Amino acid sequence: MHRRDFVKGALGAGLASSVPLELVLPISQAAQAAARQRVPYGAAIRTDFLETDPHYAEAVRKYCQIVVGEGGLKWIDLRPSRSSFEFDQPDRLIAFADANGMTMRGHTLIWYAAMPDWTVEIDTAKEAEFELIHHIEVVVGRYRGRIPNWDVVNEPISEDPDKEGPLRDSIWLQQLGEDYIELAFRTAAATDQNTQLVLNDFDFEKATPVSRKRRSLMLDLLKKLKDRDVPVHALGLQGHLTGEAEIDKDGLSRFVEDAHGLGLDILVTELDVIDNNLPANQGVRDQIAAMRVNDYLSAICDVVEPKSILTWGLSDKYTWVPIWFSRRDGLPNRPLPLDENYQPKAMMQVLQEFTQAGS
Ligand code: XIL
Repeated sequence: MHRRDFVKGALGAGLASSVPLELVLPISQAAQAAARQRVPYGAAIRTDFLETDPHYAEAVRKYCQIVVGEGGLKWIDLRPSRSSFEFDQPDRLIAFADANGMTMRGHTLIWYAAMPDWTVEIDTAKEAEFELIHHIEVVVGRYRGRIPNWDVVNEPISEDPDKEGPLRDSIWLQQLGEDYIELAFRTAAATDQNTQLVLNDFDFEKATPVSRKRRSLMLDLLKKLKDRDVPVHALGLQGHLTGEAEIDKDGLSRFVEDAHGLGLDILVTELDVIDNNLPANQGVRDQIAAMRVNDYLSAICDVVEPKSILTWGLSDKYTWVPIWFSRRDGLPNRPLPLDENYQPKAMMQVLQEFTQAGS
C-alpha cells in the first residue's frame, strides 16, 4: 500500500482527524498534500532543474502529487538513434517521484512532433508498424507497474480540421493510416495490463468553429475506438487555454459528458493560460488567467470529476509558452499557478478550490 493511501485510510478512520498530519506520521510533503486532495494535482517538470534549482524542487514537493516529464519520454529525447534508447531523464524523474511519494505520468508514446531526424527513414508501412510496436514495448515495458497512466497517442486531431483533414499528419498516419491509433493502444495494453491508457489532445474549449469541429471529431474517434473494443481508458484534455478567448462552458461540458458516457475517465493534463494577447498589467493578466482556469475547470467538474489535474509547468520561471507565444511588449509570460519566484498567484487558489478536499 502506498504511504499516501495509508494516510488517507488513517484519516478516513478518524485515527488522526484531530492531530495534525505531520505529528501522525513522518510523511512526505506530497503525501500530506495528497491527504488533503479531492483531485490529485501535478505539473510537467524539467527534470534537470530539479537538481540545480532547490526552490523548484521544494515547490514541486509542496504542491504536486503527480509529475510528468515536460520532455524525456518523447522520441526526440528517448531515441538518439534507430537502435538506441536513452532513459536517463525519465529514470531520474521517476526516482524523484518515488522518493517523494508522488506518481509519474508517461508522456508521450506516439506523437507527430518531437521526432528525431533518423525517423524520416521510416518510409514503409512494415517499418512503421515494427518501430511503433518496438518503441512502445521497450518503453512501457521498462516502467511496467510504475507509471499509472500513459499518453499513448498525443494530438491525433488536426489543428484545423477544415483545412488539414480530420487527423493530424505524421509518419504514423502516412504509413499506417488511422489504424496507427488502435495499434498503439493495443500494444501498450499488451505490454502493461495495469496502466491507464490515455488519448490526449487540445483545443476543445473555445466557442469557435475549430473547437466545435475538434470536439466532434474527437468524439467520433473515441466512439470508433470503443466500438472496436480498443483499450482506450481515458481522454486527456491538455487545456492550453487562450487567454483572450472565452471558455465555451456549455460546449465543453457536453463534450466531456459525452466522452465520459463512453466509459472514459477524464484527465486535465497540460493546463496553462497563453497570455501573449492579455493586458500587460500583471494583476489584470493574472486575474483573467485565473478566471479562464476557473471557467474551464467548472465546465468540466460540473459534469465529471477529473481523475487528475496537471498544469504544464508549475512556475512561470519554466514554461514552454514563450517558445510559440511570446509577448510583443517583451514582458515575460505568466501562464502558470506560481510566479517566477514560486509565489502562488490567483490561478493556484483556483486550482486548489478544484483539487483540495472541503473546497
Ligand atoms: C512542449 C514542451 O513544453 C516544450 O519544451 C517542447 O519544446 C515542445 O513540446 N502539447 C504537448 C506537449 O503535448 O508535449 C508540448 O510540450 C506542448 C503542447
